[in-house]
Amino acid sequence: KETALGQSKKAERFTSSGFILAAIGSSVGLGNMWKFPYITGLYGGAAFFLLFVVCLIIVGLPVLLAEMTIGRGGRGNAASSFYNLTGNKQWKWFGFMSVVTAFLIISYYGVVAGWTLQYTIDSVVGSLGQGTNFDQHFVDFAAGGWPVFWQLVVMIVCGVIVGKGISGGIEKFNKILIPGFLAILLVLMVRALTLPGAAAGVDFFLKPDFSVLTGESALIALGHAFFSLSLGMGCMLTYGSYVQKEQSLGKATVAIGVGDLGYALIAGLIIFPTIFSYGIEPQKGVGLAFMALPASFSQMPLGSLFGGLFFLLLAIAALTSAVSILEVPVAYAMHYWKWSRRKAAAIIAALSFALGVPAGLSVSGPLSDWTPFGKSIFDWFDFMTAYVLMPLGGLAVTLFTGYAWKRAGEEAGLTGFWYRAWMFCLRYVAPLLILAVLLYSIFVKPV
Ligand code: PFF
Repeated sequence: KETALGQSKKAERFTSSGFILAAIGSSVGLGNMWKFPYITGLYGGAAFFLLFVVCLIIVGLPVLLAEMTIGRGGRGNAASSFYNLTGNKQWKWFGFMSVVTAFLIISYYGVVAGWTLQYTIDSVVGSLGQGTNFDQHFVDFAAGGWPVFWQLVVMIVCGVIVGKGISGGIEKFNKILIPGFLAILLVLMVRALTLPGAAAGVDFFLKPDFSVLTGESALIALGHAFFSLSLGMGCMLTYGSYVQKEQSLGKATVAIGVGDLGYALIAGLIIFPTIFSYGIEPQKGVGLAFMALPASFSQMPLGSLFGGLFFLLLAIAALTSAVSILEVPVAYAMHYWKWSRRKAAAIIAALSFALGVPAGLSVSGPLSDWTPFGKSIFDWFDFMTAYVLMPLGGLAVTLFTGYAWKRAGEEAGLTGFWYRAWMFCLRYVAPLLILAVLLYSIFVKPV
């Protein structure tokens, strides 16, 4: 039977700065540092970056605010919040879908997060391959047993942090890691921009050539805006349920948007100058961070130090996002199955680990030859989540906030122009664009 969660029990809450940090920690992740550079390399460089910024502003930020508003208003998890606000049980299915999406994402996200830990160590001790053999090194590494071990480490860390709760676990974790993270980011940016030949990389990233854009670029940009802001799978909704009533959600939206975009910008200003400076092409696809960058660092003075810092940065970004993803099914299990937080964190982390193993082994390992309908298991996880399930979850959020729930503006603290602009994006702009991504992903893009 449904109950309004959080009213009777001692409610868990973020402090206001803790919430902003945790939400930025969630949004800034492998998406910005691993995925964003390679899709920018593949889909149009600077022009693609501009498209991403537009998608972030007209779709990403309105949906972000909507998710946080539903969470705080409903004070429930990704499924029960919808019910708490309207008493309508049907929305719960979208919430359930979000939980499944989160479960799928954390499974393969944990794999890549694990790679970053091994690469941090290997960069420092200088065992990432020699000469020009970095691509092969990555392929061999991903095919072996170590990624499974590191994925296990990631899932144990996430399980422990989430098991400790909101203020004592997730908030503390972000407060410790994020300042160090910023410092490393700036050091690496200065290093990259002062490399000989860095300007070519900056041009590639910031001088747009619109003729290279295709319809596909726009859809990938929108999908990535979702992934990057952790939307469409109940994550910001779940975090929003722990936000205090006094906190301004509008300001939080701006802070998280600026944080995510700023980080994408700096990531681009680290990665493109670094690889261009060593004559490497940016169209390397998924392996960009794990192949092209080690090759560049190996030729750089003090390269093992900078390489180690780069992968440490990636590891921190990955872990602060991974805990936020795990929190979605954990909050759900605590409410619907009445599990304790610790039990939920332990069981779901263990199951995600189990599900992630085949995904990890399909990158270049024993399962890589098995490509049902043309994609490896890993690629299926990425495709289904980023381009199908997350947009679908986002569509539910826009329709719910735009049409079904009448008091959203009040909870979000928006009136006048900003309320009308928000509603315009939620009712018309976002659903149409999201629908375009969905239809394209399902019917046009050859799977
Ligand atoms: N925003 C994260 C990134 O860019 O890496 C990924 C992510 C985190 C997706 C949390 C979804 C989520 F709920």
